[in-house]
Amino acid sequence: MSSIAACLLIMLAVGFLVVENDASVLPELKTDALVTKDFNLQKKDPCDSPEKLGLEDGDIPDENIQASSNARNRPPSKARLNGPSFWSPASGPGAWIEVSLLQSTEVAGVITQGKAVFFVNTFKVSYKPPSSSRLVYVTESNGSIKLFDGGDPYTASTPRTHDFDPHVNAHAVRIVITAVHVMPGLRFEVIGCPIDA
Ligand SMILES: *[C@@H]1O[C@H](CO)[C@@H](O)[C@H](O)[C@H]1NC(C)=O
Repeated sequence: MSSIAACLLIMLAVGFLVVENDASVLPELKTDALVTKDFNLQKKDPCDSPEKLGLEDGDIPDENIQASSNARNRPPSKARLNGPSFWSPASGPGAWIEVSLLQSTEVAGVITQGKAVFFVNTFKVSYKPPSSSRLVYVTESNGSIKLFDGGDPYTASTPRTHDFDPHVNAHAVRIVITAVHVMPGLRFEVIGCPIDA
């Protein structure tokens, strides 16, 4: 990291500490913190610390999770990261699961997880840009559609984080399975930074 970037990070951290720890902070200090923050937002990628967007903790309701199909007792609402069950499609490659986010978000990636012997081999991710119902694929930085590695029989239950580079702005995210294990199963979470309206 360059010394300028390090210096900015320290200024930002100090700014936040001051604002958070002292409610009676001087107006000048508040202004300083805001200026630093605004500068940070102008950088190419402000979402440096993506957060989980509500599948695991249940903030996103069941009706926001839709799928192309599901096996018996494996509905899309079970596809929550670290949940007790999982989603399983009724059919093979091309099956998808989609989550409508609570608001337009800078999406930094997805976390996927199987359960026991259930997992998916490979998948692509598509998304709907803000105010659009069009689906666009997540790409590599060189522009080709990115293929993600869903897991293996030995570590299926371990969450895998898949970063998007570049990040995408979206209000819905869809995982499209391209190769299925004989027993497909998926739990997931979307990570990113909500875009202030
Ligand atoms: C783009 O990058 C990916 C990953 O590095 C690589 O597999 C793929 O072949 C590249 N595509 C092109 C068209 O260069």
